Amino acid sequence: MSDVPTYCLNDGTTLPAIGFGTWPMKGPEATAAVLSALEAGYRLIDTAVNYDNEREVGDALRKSGVAREEIRVTSKIPGRHHAYDDAVRSTHESLEKLGLDHLDLHLIHWPNPSDGLYPETWRALVDLKQQGLVTTIGVSNFTEEHLRRIIDESGVTPAVNQIELHPLFPQEQMRAVNAGLGIRTESWSPLGKRRAPFGEPAVRGPADRYGVSPGQVILRWQVQLGAVPVPKSRAPERQRQNLDVFGFALTDDEMAAITALGRPDGRLFGGDPDTHEEQ
Ligand SMILES: NC(=O)c1ccc[n+]([C@@H]2O[C@H](COP(=O)([O-])OP(=O)(O)OC[C@H]3O[C@@H](n4cnc5c(N)ncnc54)[C@H](OP(=O)(O)O)[C@@H]3O)[C@@H](O)[C@H]2O)c1
Repeated sequence: MSDVPTYCLNDGTTLPAIGFGTWPMKGPEATAAVLSALEAGYRLIDTAVNYDNEREVGDALRKSGVAREEIRVTSKIPGRHHAYDDAVRSTHESLEKLGLDHLDLHLIHWPNPSDGLYPETWRALVDLKQQGLVTTIGVSNFTEEHLRRIIDESGVTPAVNQIELHPLFPQEQMRAVNAGLGIRTESWSPLGKRRAPFGEPAVRGPADRYGVSPGQVILRWQVQLGAVPVPKSRAPERQRQNLDVFGFALTDDEMAAITALGRPDGRLFGGDPDTHEEQ
């Protein structure tokens, strides 16, 4: 089993340096994938109300035999549950579906600024943490403006901001904003999904030099950025590979070449539409 380091978050809890993404897997496929991911050594599992797989993730947690306290389970409150009471109800429903008495990490999935309810959702999360139903609270897809508003209004800084981050979209500015506020960046679509630049010389070169796969190079780049990637794979072999990125290191030049792919003037720049509303 891979030895995955952990980060200490701003609330004193810890987060593994790599997690396992579960979207868009559902039904038996989701249970099987989470089970094999836990067997491979993943201890951070990323789900959400919107993924419609919390029951299956919960089944896998129980079947795995891994001690509950070793696993960090993440879920996310969807935009339609942003009013305070809805956010509380949503969290109880997630717990019921997962079969857990607490979530380790709970995020606001999208700020949905056009509804204007994300500060209220954040207050609900702060209260849920105080009640012990959630250990660590954070957000996803938040800009600097959204972050500063909830911090100013509540006095509580999110521990995590999960954002789209991959070589086509290296998010230098948001990574700096998160770091400046003491927030750990998590990376969604960390490989770049279907557009993963596996054939690019900046990725292919280190893969050949270190005898690893292009996916491992990209995930190693994520780790050296200090971001926590949550790659998804339904295949046990790729799951194991994606966790096995601690036996080699990229040079500063190799890191810079991958980051340059996705700079606005780079060859491949482009994240998803930048609306900050639920997609
Ligand atoms: N917060 C948000 O708004 C948000 C949005 C999107 C996603 N997410 C989270 O982020 C997770 C990951 O994002 P994602 O699934 O969009 O993208 P991703 O993890 O970057 O890419 C997943 C794709 O890459 C393939 N793959 C995985 N490992 C590989 C490897 N080593 N070599 C080659 N191909 C590989 C997978 O196929 P196989 O399954 O066949 O291996 C799958 O098609 C999601 O599962 C979800 O938990 C969060």
